[in-house]
Order: sequence, then structure tokens, then C-alpha cells
Amino acid sequence: MYAAIKSIGSYVPNEKRNNQWFVDRMDTSDDWITKRTGISTRRIANKDEQTSDMGVQASKIAIQRAGLTIDDIDLIICATISPDYYCMPSTACIIGQKLGTKDVMAMDISAACTGFVYALSIAKAFIESNMKKNILIIGAEKLSSIVDYTDRTTCMLFGDGAGASIISATNDKNEAIIDIQCSSDGNLKDLLLTPNILNGEKQFIQMKGNETFKIAVKTLVRDVQDIMKKNSMKNTDIDLFIPHQANYRILKVVGDALKFEEKQKIITVQKYGNTSSASIPMAMNDAYENNKLKYGDTILLDAFGGGLTWGSAIFRFAGKNINDNK
Ligand code: ACO
Repeated sequence: MYAAIKSIGSYVPNEKRNNQWFVDRMDTSDDWITKRTGISTRRIANKDEQTSDMGVQASKIAIQRAGLTIDDIDLIICATISPDYYCMPSTACIIGQKLGTKDVMAMDISAACTGFVYALSIAKAFIESNMKKNILIIGAEKLSSIVDYTDRTTCMLFGDGAGASIISATNDKNEAIIDIQCSSDGNLKDLLLTPNILNGEKQFIQMKGNETFKIAVKTLVRDVQDIMKKNSMKNTDIDLFIPHQANYRILKVVGDALKFEEKQKIITVQKYGNTSSASIPMAMNDAYENNKLKYGDTILLDAFGGGLTWGSAIFRFAGKNINDNK
């Protein structure tokens, strides 16, 4: 039994927050933000819109595009660092409740910006071990709820949104996820963290941006080189390279080091900012809706985030093309 990615969907909140919003409130400039990050706008959820609400919207699209109904889903995995509730219940349980699932196993995983790739690897393992048939994986974040809007070194980086995908069992090896590798190093936990809220500390993201930047570049490049070598693949075998969208400069340096051509790279950070676990599925969905991500295409994902965590995945997209799915 193989695991195949049958669909992609995403949701972005209505509010567009441009760089001027930050210029009006702190000592920064549009020029600094654009040059250092490549970000022009990010989407911000409204007060009543929870991470689960965004996850539900993305999930509905993913389920419909996979040609399934909610009754077909037998596992829900939500990757998030901004859950509706800290500790419990999980955001995956709430997404299941809002979608109307019945007695379905549901769980969150916490791997920061690598969350979607981690969720994908768990889904693959559940399917290959014959335990589940149709798994809904989601990356959903309301990062605006854990961003300190007085810290000019982090607050302009992050945005809200969600992406979701259906991973289904198949006998067709040509549709299978080819490989996924995930790693972590807790020794580097202090580079990127939210303080311990159980000790009464504020929940806001803290980041040693410059150090994180350098490690992110090295790790993302090395991880891609490893997975490509392990699978005897060259970059010309890859149709689309979809990295975690943290910062345009990181994407540029990584893309150039790996010698991907412009047409192979999917970059959406300019319009959504860094949406952590949602960034890869949101970028995949952008490529899909622009008819760049098509059935049978070979896709490479590459993620890096707090933990530290990192991971990459190579798969053939097994969903219908957008024009056949309207
Ligand atoms: N406006 C103007 N100046 C600023 C701002 C701002 N918003 N923020 C910082 N500065 C200043 C600094 O104070 C510093 O000034 P100084 O030279 O007088 O000391 C100067 O700009 C340079 O600061 P750096 O931190 O060195 O800037 P850098 O080029 O590293 O850019 C950034 C900062 C954008 C945060 C970058 O380091 C970055 O993107 N880091 C990695 C992010 C990432 O990949 N995170 C991992 C995933 S996220 C997750 O897992 C949730």
C-alpha cells in the first residue's frame, strides 16, 4: 500500500496588513521590511476567527477536491503552534467537530514551520501500515495571536492562514509519496521559541533572527541535497520546489545554492508573510490554483522551523488538475 497526495486547499483571512501598518506604529520602514524579508502584505484573522476555523475552510476545499466526503476521513492531523486552546482540546478535534466527523482519531502535532512535512510523514506511515485510508492533514496558524506587536524584529514577519491536503491509500506506485525525511535538534531551542506560559510568561514568539537565518539556509540546502542523493534524483527531475516561506532572502539563497530555475520555485512570502506550518500547503495551493501544480508533477518540499525542526519530502502530485476540479 502506498500513500498519495490527492488534493490541496487553503484559506486566507480577509484582512490584508501591508508594511505601512508597521511603519505607522514603530521605528521601521517599508524599504527595510521589503529588502530584508521580501514581505509586502500578510493576512490577519479577525478576533473571532480561530485557527480551527481557518483549518476547517481549507479542509472543506481539500476534501471536495479529493472527491471525498467527510465520512471518508479516518484520521485528522493538524500541525499548529497557535492552537485554539493550549494543551487541550487539540485543534484537530475541533476541526473534526466543525466538519462533522464521527469517532475519528484526531491529533495535533507541534513542529513549528516544519509541521506540515511532519504531518505528511505521519500520514504516510499510517497508510503504509494499513491503519488508515484517507487522512486529512492541515497546517493552520493564527500567528497574530502569539506575535508581540511591540517587537519590530519579529512582528512584521508573520501572518495567518491555513492549508490542507488529503493523503489516501493507493496501489499505484506512480502516485506514491517517494520519500520524506524529518529531523530535529533541541540543542538549538533558544533560537526560536515562545516562553513558558505555564510559568505566567507571555506567549509571544521570540527569535534570534540573524543566527536562525544562517542556520536555516545551511540546513535547508543540506536537507535537499541529502534527500535527492538518497533517491538518486537531480534537480532537473523536480517540477516544483516548494520551500517554507520564511523570508525571500532565505528562499533566494537556498534556491540559487540548489540551482533551481525560476520556473521551478514557488514563492508566496511576499503576499502572506511567514505562516509557519501553513506556509507550505498555502504555497502549494497557490501553485495549484495557478495551474502550475499538476497531476503527476514531481514536487520537492523543504521546511525549517522552531525546535529546531526541519524536513523535506518528494512526491508526485496525485490530485486532479485545477481545471478538472471546478
Ligand atoms: N525595521 C528597521 N530596522 C530593524 C527592524 C525593523 N523592523 N528589525 C531590526 N532592525 C535593525 C536591527 O536592530 C539591526 O540594527 P543594528 O545593525 O543597528 O543593530 C539591523 O536592523 C539588522 O538586524 P538583523 O537582525 O541583523 O537583520 P537581518 O538581516 O538578520 O533580518 C530577519 C532580520 C528578517 C528577522 C532575518 O534575520 C530572518 O528572516 N531570520 C530568519 C527567520 C526564519 O527563518 N525563521 C525560521 C522559521 S520561523 C518559525 O519556525 C516560526
